[in-house]
Amino acid sequence: MNVTKLDGIGACVFDAYGTLFDVNAAAQHCAADLGDKWLPLAELWRGRQLQYTWLRSLMGEYADFWQVTGEALDFAMDALDLEDAQLRERLMELYLQLDAYPEVGDVLRRLQDGGMKTAILSNGSPKMLDAAVANAGIGGALDAVISADQIKVYKTAPGVYQMAVDQLGVAPGAISFQSSNAWDAHAASNFGFRVVWVNRFGQPRERLPGNPDVMLDSLESLPSIVGVEG
Ligand code: LAC
Repeated sequence: MNVTKLDGIGACVFDAYGTLFDVNAAAQHCAADLGDKWLPLAELWRGRQLQYTWLRSLMGEYADFWQVTGEALDFAMDALDLEDAQLRERLMELYLQLDAYPEVGDVLRRLQDGGMKTAILSNGSPKMLDAAVANAGIGGALDAVISADQIKVYKTAPGVYQMAVDQLGVAPGAISFQSSNAWDAHAASNFGFRVVWVNRFGQPRERLPGNPDVMLDSLESLPSIVGVEG
């Protein structure tokens, strides 16, 4: 993982949650109500949300990401003895308007100005992704927003990554896939994408198939890595 440039890239495809949008933002915005439980809640919520996607995919019991996110929140609130229907509703509403990380809008526009195709490929349901994209004001800088909901199975199923190939008309080896989620970065690399692991949280590497090509701590330098800027 010591590559500094990726050659021959025709499209930059982004994971959504944790990569473009701050998944902790909803709980953080309720810190006044949650006190020191806001971070444990955010982490438990996110952890269960992901586990439920993988478990449901293995069980063949797909439910969309909105339902899974709500069920994960119910578990997390229960585990932390937070019984508050209004707070639950507020947290779910906030999940539709998560803050984008500060560099996101600028990076997407620089890529687009440089002639790069750009897209989101996410487990998020179309309703959730549309809301987050509109809230961040980045719709104009994206060529496509692709949801796992179209095939009713979640990442890390290879079919989800294949959707980006099919819908953008770009070969896997010419796609630079960005994710802050290491498990997603490994699976995308194992599928055949070139991968930038945006290691925002300074995590150790996962022991999984696949080998991300580049590790960054934010998306800031992506345009130069994929060759649209010097
Ligand atoms: C996404 C989540 C899982 O696919 O990060 O956007």
